[in-house]
Amino acid sequence: MTAKRIDGKAKAEQLATSITQQTAALLEEHGIKPGLAVVIIGEDPASQVYVRNKGRRAEACGFHSVQHSLPDDVAQQEVLALVDKLNHDDAIHGILVQLPLPGHLDEQSITQSISPQKDVDGFHFVNIGKLTAGHTDDAFVPCTPAGCMLMIEDELGSDLSGLNAVVIGRSNIVGKPMAALLLQRNATVTMTHSRTKDLPGVVRNADIVIAAVGRPDMVKADWIKPGAVIIDVGINRVDRQVDGEMKTKLTGDVDYDDVIETAGAVTPVPGGVGPMTITMLMFNTLRSARLSAGLEDQATA
Ligand code: GUN
Repeated sequence: MTAKRIDGKAKAEQLATSITQQTAALLEEHGIKPGLAVVIIGEDPASQVYVRNKGRRAEACGFHSVQHSLPDDVAQQEVLALVDKLNHDDAIHGILVQLPLPGHLDEQSITQSISPQKDVDGFHFVNIGKLTAGHTDDAFVPCTPAGCMLMIEDELGSDLSGLNAVVIGRSNIVGKPMAALLLQRNATVTMTHSRTKDLPGVVRNADIVIAAVGRPDMVKADWIKPGAVIIDVGINRVDRQVDGEMKTKLTGDVDYDDVIETAGAVTPVPGGVGPMTITMLMFNTLRSARLSAGLEDQATA
């Protein structure tokens, strides 16, 4: 049987429609417009594209959207001063400093200078701590794992009791928060990484596989338990020969064409996790605006 292709793009669009409607209602009923500030430092081309897309999506949702572009030799103090200004700006509910940063800047002190109440990336230690302790009611959950979780719920429901989940990759942005979310939903979670012995053997036990390592097409069909749900977080640019011409192609960490005959459901790259991530940023920003006004939290969609 061929696996289901999980359409992250369609799900993200559905969710964005709901966010846009809730944003209009928040403005009409409470006079509040969610505000998202994105800070970009330097000229990294991939980051420029991501940031432009975040700004566009924020505007499409009806948000107040601002971008601050700083030169790549900007001083640490100047970045901290901008974050401080945004922390105190009542029109801004979400602050995101695009990573990676130029080498001379201290990423940790910048990330941790963002007010936890405006940390829509979910990178502040307060939000990480709340997520780890299971206090997600008032924590911001990092966007990529939050989006992955919604797609997993669509396939398997919100209670993952009795299911084995294997997370490949232990990053702070994806692997670790993903494991915390899966655990909260009662999955039996195994974290794996570059030092794991017999990775294919471990993955073969998984009902749910999250691949977040940045190794193109690493996960193969013979790693996969028949019927497993596979979420591919990888976005790798690889050069491939197409009709005698070298072309750059986006590919995930999972060999999609290989696993499609074995798995139960798989996210494609592009069109899977990526669109969900950016929409979850909008979800977190709307949520922040609502929480700042003392309003009840709202459901995802
Ligand atoms: N760079 C790549 N992904 C992300 C993300 O989710 N947040 C931030 N701030 N930077 C990133």
